[in-house]
Amino acid sequence: MTQTIIFDTDPGIDDAMALLFAHALPNIDLYGITTVFGNATIDDGTKNACYLRDRFGINAIIAKGADKPLVRPPVGPTTIVHGEHGLGYVEAPADTAINLDPRPAYQFLCEEVKRRSGEITIVAVGPLTNLALALQHDPEITQHVKQVVIMGGAFGLDGNCGNVAPFAEANIHDDPHAADLVFTADWPVVIVGLDVTHKAFFSGEYLDALRDSAGETGQFIHDISRFYLEFYSNKVGLNGCHVHDPSAIAYVADPSLFGTRSGPVRVVCDGPLTGMTVQKVDARRYSDDEFSDHRAQQVCVSVDDQRLLKLYQDSINRLA
Ligand code: RIB
Ligand code: CA
Repeated sequence: MTQTIIFDTDPGIDDAMALLFAHALPNIDLYGITTVFGNATIDDGTKNACYLRDRFGINAIIAKGADKPLVRPPVGPTTIVHGEHGLGYVEAPADTAINLDPRPAYQFLCEEVKRRSGEITIVAVGPLTNLALALQHDPEITQHVKQVVIMGGAFGLDGNCGNVAPFAEANIHDDPHAADLVFTADWPVVIVGLDVTHKAFFSGEYLDALRDSAGETGQFIHDISRFYLEFYSNKVGLNGCHVHDPSAIAYVADPSLFGTRSGPVRVVCDGPLTGMTVQKVDARRYSDDEFSDHRAQQVCVSVDDQRLLKLYQDSINRLA
């Protein structure tokens, strides 16, 4: 069955990998792209989205989103991981046409989700600011969305607690207040966090093989990954990279790749644990309990990484 998605993104190297994956998958209809600050500034990220759409013939509406978090001071673009403008050593040409929907991302989300009630899955792979603004603007969208799948968070399984801070993943750390609003809203959320994205790995050899087999798209993925792999090599000591944002797309395309755990999720919003995500998995109601009244959300706790890597490779190869 075809899944219609709006892809909320901060492009971003792995965001671009995920966007091309969504474009390639036969059972995903990439209806819209909403941009958000994060890996790059909102202007650079929006330009990157427009460039990717034009270069790869992606038929999706783009709406520009938030340039800063709801409450916390902005952390700033992640240039150390994604390069000066978000795509590593690749730069969107200066004359990239910035053709956007006139609505801000939150309004686009609200209106399109309601207009196509029950049809749209929001896949969010950056800070969750646009989704939180949409919830504040029109809380009724929770009743109209099909589901919300996000890449973000870390629940400590197998020691996966954080990547930008000891206990925080980047997307949640960038806007913890937004994430807490999104996780506690009455809509179905699936969280694809570091617990699973750290278990799938694009090795240097895997990306070389994709370059050799997948035509222009494979070459492009290889080109943008050069900067990313240098970061992983220098800072993490790995020859390759974790599969973050493409894993959220993989969940939509084939949820059987993942095992999940159910329970309400909250986010720590200040102090040294800012951005930490916590899921309550027991049924007990405590006398001081700010979890149990919220909807149980799904957290991914296991992944069939080999099947996911094959799905990515087969899909991108199909574009060649
Ligand atoms: O922690 C990984 C996430 O942070 C990914 O979405 C990546 O693109 C960055 O935004
Ligand atoms: Ca991202």
